[in-house]
Amino acid sequence: MPVSSAVQVRRLTGSIGAVLDAIDLRAPLAADAVARLRATIVEHQVVFVRDQHLTEDELRTFAARFGPLGVSPLHQVLGTGRTTSVIEDTADRPPAGFDWHTDLSWTAAPPALGFLSAVEIPAWGGDTMWASLSAAFDSLPPGTRAACRGLRVRHRPDRTLLESVARHHGDEVARRLRDAHPPVDHPLVRLHPVSGQRLLSLSPLYTEQVVGLERDTSAQLMATLERTLEDPHHQVRWRWAEGDVAVWDEAATCHRALTDHFPHRRVMRRCVVERGRPA
Ligand code: SIN
Repeated sequence: MPVSSAVQVRRLTGSIGAVLDAIDLRAPLAADAVARLRATIVEHQVVFVRDQHLTEDELRTFAARFGPLGVSPLHQVLGTGRTTSVIEDTADRPPAGFDWHTDLSWTAAPPALGFLSAVEIPAWGGDTMWASLSAAFDSLPPGTRAACRGLRVRHRPDRTLLESVARHHGDEVARRLRDAHPPVDHPLVRLHPVSGQRLLSLSPLYTEQVVGLERDTSAQLMATLERTLEDPHHQVRWRWAEGDVAVWDEAATCHRALTDHFPHRRVMRRCVVERGRPA
């Protein structure tokens, strides 16, 4: 679906990702343009816009057109109320190297949309990859799909996340974050609220186990399902340039950032939109 007659949508792969050309994310967007943009994000699951160079305020203003901005659980614990955060990798602050995940899948209501804005990008490395959870579901044999329906998976803040919080904010903050977020169960297969596609709701970084299955059986099933994320046919990989913006559908994707730029500097701004309105 075209966003407007001027904006061009260039698909990047057979399953996920598109680049939007001829769009200025700083320009005021009428409600119908926002609706078309939202539909384009749902259709392609992640979209990229080059050369935007948004300030923190501009990122916030653009993202807020899609719904209420989320205050991350960390910022809730810190009491800052901040709706944007900075990911800053340096020689002294190595990249987190998180495995595939959907943002905040360990919360009761994970966000609808994720936004990243590239501030400083190394000469090489530091790409981000997204995988399509609808393509992952569609790739399963019918028997496995049937076996997955009705299952629920337990999510919790991962140890590496809590260690990273402890490193940057202290043990007490990490403990309060963990205590505020006991494990939460989400369906393994979900219908996308807008597209109606079936999604294999994987978030390996934050997944503990399938509820009600023996630990070994659960581990075997999850390992089989998580292998679908590694199929390049389900992925898009973005080589960042400074000023790029990515917007993704959190329900329909999971993502991971590569760490091969270490020890070079990489700075990103990020925010999320809550599920307050359909996205
Ligand atoms: C993330 O894992 O959410 C961060 C993505 C990135 O830095 O590219």
